[in-house]
Order: sequence, then C-alpha cells, then structure tokens
Amino acid sequence: MARGKSEGKVVVITGVARGLGRAMALEFASQGHRVIGCSRNKKKLSELTERLGDRHSLSVVDVTDDDAVAVWADESVEAFGAPDLLLNNAAVINRNKFLWELSASEFDEVVDINIKGVANVIRHFLPAMAKTGTGVIVNFSSGWGRSASPEVAPYCATKYAIEGLTQALALELPGGMAAIPLNPGVINTDMLRSCFGPSAADFASPKEWAKTAVPFLLDLGPQHNGQSLTVG
Ligand SMILES: NC(=O)c1ccc[n+]([C@@H]2O[C@H](COP(=O)([O-])OP(=O)(O)OC[C@H]3O[C@@H](n4cnc5c(N)ncnc54)[C@H](OP(=O)(O)O)[C@@H]3O)[C@@H](O)[C@H]2O)c1
Repeated sequence: MARGKSEGKVVVITGVARGLGRAMALEFASQGHRVIGCSRNKKKLSELTERLGDRHSLSVVDVTDDDAVAVWADESVEAFGAPDLLLNNAAVINRNKFLWELSASEFDEVVDINIKGVANVIRHFLPAMAKTGTGVIVNFSSGWGRSASPEVAPYCATKYAIEGLTQALALELPGGMAAIPLNPGVINTDMLRSCFGPSAADFASPKEWAKTAVPFLLDLGPQHNGQSLTVG
C-alpha cells in the first residue's frame, strides 16, 4: 500500500498500555505518525484510544499467543500497510529474587513474553515488511542485556537473548531493512519500580524519555542494522 509522506510513518508498538509503550504512542501520534499498538489490559487500551483518536489502532493482544498475534498482524497490514517501524517493547521482569527462589512458572512467564513474544511478533509482521524491502525492527533490550545484576537473572537471560536474536535476525534481513537491539536507558515505570523500589523516582518519566527516544527511533535506518544501540 503506497503512503503519502504527510500520513507519517506506521509504527507498531507492543506493550502500549503503560510505561514506555504508552509514552511512545502519545509522542509518535503527536508528531503525526500512525500508531498500531497492543497490550493485554482492555481498560487501559480504551483510555489510550480516547486520547489518541481514531486514526490509530489499539488491540487487546497477548504477544505470547501466536495465533492472536497472527490475526492482529494480518488485520493491521491489511488496513494500514506494512509497518515502517516495529517496536518490540512489551516485556515483564521477575520479582526481585535469587534465581533458585523463583518458581518454574515465574521463570516461564518472563521467557514466554520477553523472548517468544518478540519472535511471534516478528514472525507475523516481518513478511509484509520484507515485501516492501524497507522497515526497521527495534527489539527492546536493557542494560541488563549487556551486564548482569543479582535477583533479576530471568530478566537478564531474556535480554541477553534479545541481543543474540536480534544480531542473528540482522544477518537474515534484506538490504534495505534493519534489526536493532535497543537499551532504552533507565526510566521511572512500573517495571523500574518493581526492581528499584522508591529510588525509581530519581529517574526520568516516560513522557520526558519519549521526547528524546521518538526522534532517535525515527532516525534509525538500514545503516544501523545489527548495531546494539542505547537511547540518548
Ligand atoms: N523502564 C526501564 O528503566 C527499562 C530499562 C531497560 C529496559 N526496559 C525495557 O523497555 C521496555 C518497556 O519497559 P517499561 O519499563 O515500559 O515496562 P512496564 O512499565 O512494565 O510496561 C510493560 C508493557 O508491556 C505490556 N505487556 C506485558 N506483557 C505483555 C504481553 N504478554 N502481551 C502484550 N503486552 C504485554 C504491559 O501492558 P499489559 O500488562 O496491559 O499487557 C505494559 O504496557 C521493556 O522491554 C523493558 O524490558 C525498560
């Protein structure tokens, strides 16, 4: 589907209900881009839809559900064309605990969302992007995808995996595309409050962060393919 420049870019964001996803959605929309987002919380998505307006499309989709992601991707591409930017932002962190104190189901949840969820989204959006030969895939990594800390071993493991998955994907993409593992920095969200406690308040708000992050994301292109980047 051909798009005029004035229509802005089509930006797919997973985990759009809260935190960085929500802040990016609002900032991309305010700059004239179209946001296609998903998260699990229907109420939060309805509130955000009201703020964004009907040019944008938010859907209740759990990224661990491969079939639901397939339907969401097909419907989005049919309605709006292939994404220009695909932001794999949705993730969870384990409760602060030593690795051996966490149950198998808590470990599985982090792996299922943070790694397999990202693969599901790529599986269903990438073919349409590859057909156009353009587009940038940004997989949200972390400082904890490049160095480790105690009590967040499952999260660290998944973010190191994101670095590897993205580097490998970068080698598979056609020339005009890019896959980039991105450390967003340290921002005061629900996730940061879970692992940092009250000292999370010392860090930037998602809204402040998005003012820097969105222009940074819009500048990414094939020249960045395979580079591990950090916002800022
Ligand atoms: N905040 C930081 O300082 C920081 C630092 C390094 C890296 N990061 C990375 O940045 C990204 C955003 O983090 P954040 O701080 O904004 O986290 P957050 O505040 O916990 O928000 C996570 C978002 O992901 C969604 N989500 C979780 N599980 C999902 C699933 N199965 N399917 C669809 N959506 C799901 C959540 O909405 P629902 O629960 O409604 O689905 C929420 O919108 C993550 O990849 C994180 O690892 C953050």
